[in-house]
Amino acid sequence: MPSMSSAPISPATTEPIIAVSGLSKTYATGFSALKTIDLEIRRGEIFALLGPNGAGKTTLISIICGLVRPSTGTVFADGHDIIRDYRAARAAIGLVPQELTTDAFETVWATVNFSRGLFGKPRAPALVERILRELSLWDKKDTQIRRLSGGMKRRVMIAKALAHEPRILFLDEPTAGVDVELRQDMWQMVRRLRDEGVTIILTTHYIEEAEEMADRVGVISKGEIILVEEKAELMRKLGKKELTLQLQQPVSALPETLAEFGLRLSADGGEIVYTYDTQAERTGITTLLQGLSEAGIRFRDLSTSQSSLEDIFVSLVKERA
Ligand SMILES: Nc1ncnc2c1ncn2[C@@H]1O[C@H](COP(=O)(O)OP(=O)(O)O)[C@@H](O)[C@H]1O
Ligand SMILES: [Mg+2]
Repeated sequence: MPSMSSAPISPATTEPIIAVSGLSKTYATGFSALKTIDLEIRRGEIFALLGPNGAGKTTLISIICGLVRPSTGTVFADGHDIIRDYRAARAAIGLVPQELTTDAFETVWATVNFSRGLFGKPRAPALVERILRELSLWDKKDTQIRRLSGGMKRRVMIAKALAHEPRILFLDEPTAGVDVELRQDMWQMVRRLRDEGVTIILTTHYIEEAEEMADRVGVISKGEIILVEEKAELMRKLGKKELTLQLQQPVSALPETLAEFGLRLSADGGEIVYTYDTQAERTGITTLLQGLSEAGIRFRDLSTSQSSLEDIFVSLVKERA
């Protein structure tokens, strides 16, 4: 499929910050975790990679971050080939891994400063202080990491990833098993980083997360990216709405004359739900209401709701199964 980026816009502004092409990964076990991935991440966006467990999210991130070798294909991060120019590519990237891995006996302060040093960056105590304060870790700065709770350890992982001021931040399942407070702190920080020009890629199997945070969403299933779309566009294109009618009198069954609408009747017979396509020429609502009236079914209230990204996601993955 021809890309749209051939428009005559200055390449400096349109060049993707991450360009993945023809990427595949077959593990030593012979398992093909990634088929052939082509993906471009735009500078400054929040991109959510959404997919069920085992889809290949961590594998893809691990390759981009230089932790796993691809079987085929290339990746450029901030203009650097992740294999030929590993150090420069890696320096552009901050990674908050899915699993907690920290040096248990170090203090928070030492470990975060050390992370910065690993990338050859000069000491910057004021910057590290700001990161720790933002993550509510400042009063724990002299605490050994092994003495911290799981949630606090995760905060340390985030601080470590940010210590060298990366242009790109990967968050692999950042809120899996995380408390509400950390989740909120994290999203606030992600938004602030985005405002500062950092590109953020997060993986999740929680749809609400993608829905709340992302500018664009990529759906990955069984090692293949099956869709990449602006979040708003995705919702608009595939979004369905539900019309719920609360009946004045419960009914035991729906009249045959309304069969074409594919209505759902609640177990107690008190509610009828009609699902319609927001993009269709006609929603069918007028005809439905007429039909109900002719059948002598009266309602006392009605409401509509938009289907969530979750519904869209589930139906997409099902379609491919
Ligand atoms: N080191 C490995 N060796 C063999 N198979 C692996 C390895 N790492 C991951 N896999 C398999 O690859 C698939 C994708 O895993 P992963 O990338 O972790 O998915 P996700 O992060 O989307 O849950 C899974 O089936 C997993 O079991
Ligand atoms: Mg994973």
